[in-house]
Amino acid sequence: MDRSVFQQQFGILGDSEPMRQVTDKIKQVADTDIAVLILGETGTGKDVTARAIHANSKRKHKNLVIVNCGAIPEGIIESELFGHEKGSFTGAGEAREGYFEKANGGTIFLDEIADTPKAVQVKLLRVLESGEYFRVGSSTMRKTDVRVIAATNKDLWQEVQKEHFREDLYHRIDTVTIKLPPLRDRAGDIVPLFRAFVTEYAAKHGSTFQGLTDDARSLLVSYRWPGNVRELRKVAERLVVLEKSQLVDKEKLQKYLRGRQHEGAADNLPMRIDAQASTQARDATELAFIYRALIDLRQELGEIKKMIGTLAYAGMSTHAPAALLPVASVVEHPGVPLRQVYAHDETVERKDIPLGISKYPAHVQEVEVAREAPPADQESLFSGDNVPSIEETEQYLIKKALKVYNGNRRKASEALGVSERTLYRKLDQYGLV
Ligand SMILES: Nc1ncnc2c1ncn2[C@@H]1O[C@H](COP(=O)(O)OP(=O)(O)OP(=O)(O)O)[C@@H](O)[C@H]1O
Ligand SMILES: [Mg+2]
Repeated sequence: MDRSVFQQQFGILGDSEPMRQVTDKIKQVADTDIAVLILGETGTGKDVTARAIHANSKRKHKNLVIVNCGAIPEGIIESELFGHEKGSFTGAGEAREGYFEKANGGTIFLDEIADTPKAVQVKLLRVLESGEYFRVGSSTMRKTDVRVIAATNKDLWQEVQKEHFREDLYHRIDTVTIKLPPLRDRAGDIVPLFRAFVTEYAAKHGSTFQGLTDDARSLLVSYRWPGNVRELRKVAERLVVLEKSQLVDKEKLQKYLRGRQHEGAADNLPMRIDAQASTQARDATELAFIYRALIDLRQELGEIKKMIGTLAYAGMSTHAPAALLPVASVVEHPGVPLRQVYAHDETVERKDIPLGISKYPAHVQEVEVAREAPPADQESLFSGDNVPSIEETEQYLIKKALKVYNGNRRKASEALGVSERTLYRKLDQYGLV
């Protein structure tokens, strides 16, 4: 595939020499099973790169499991990664598979790997070397076949020197390194990326953008972009929404850049607070347990909802109260097009919004199953002896309600007896938006 077509398809923009090299390397390694370490400052595209590698590998039809190692509270990290047996610790009501099991046959993306607690690093090394692991509370050795992609915005070698990171694990994941250059080191990409984002957001918000004055364009290029491409994207979106009436000049643009902080002005640009967030997460052992309980509770709610759904399907009169619908328990969702995943890339929102609103637990950003969503719009689903799955039925009902109410989501959600937010989540989950 031609480099620029590849870049378009996977949302890796930038025609500068460093980005060309990065793209070529991604293309080169994707189809192998080789471990890849992605390095780069925040917002430089580590996530995008990992997805592109998986999507171009022979594992693309299996799961891509993305785990934020720095955000998993220490007390539960082992059971999250490797699963646990029923009753293996207080609260472990049911046996549960871990992320390495979920990723079997596919790819596991260990994001922020430098922040993995040392006690777990030795277990990581074992599973990465031999595929062998044990569920917590089990003495049965299990095997998994995963391709590993790891990423960090820290200097991993320095972490080894400081004895925060095991040297053997470092060498295991350092087979191929992709270093993503900060935006300030490829200034030639700034204006084209800005244009691409402005065009995207103008279409999304049905808005127009008049452009930048020459002064403003120079500022855009000379600014240091500490938040890299993520920050540029945010600035583009905010300008499209808030400054649509006239050309944006230097003074106006200045207000949208983080540099303003130095002048003592309030900075209202949302930026990542990863390090802080993960430290807080690790300190908050108590929160970890509440969190775990919430996840379990959601899963139980999911089961209840499915039962109600089955009853309703069997013709019994029942209306699932919105409160019973799970906020987030399912971490698998069928074939959501990659572009769509990027469009939802709001890591800050995902990490910082209160529990229960996030689509996934904070440390599992996403689990993609790259298979097609089952057909759900055919009446034949219900004909003869065909027994459609709950998912197919759900999709069918959602499509029908939207059709009947001409796409009005509020009315459709009322008719379906779910909250509007649940309907949005379902649409997103099934790739219907
Ligand atoms: N080369 C690129 N072309 C287009 N968009 C990009 C590029 N690199 C990053 N982005 C966009 O910037 C945002 C941040 O990218 P991404 O999440 O991959 O960064 P990251 O390196 O994983 O950041 P962090 O270290 O904070 O997790 C996303 O919206 C992504 O789509
Ligand atoms: Mg990331």
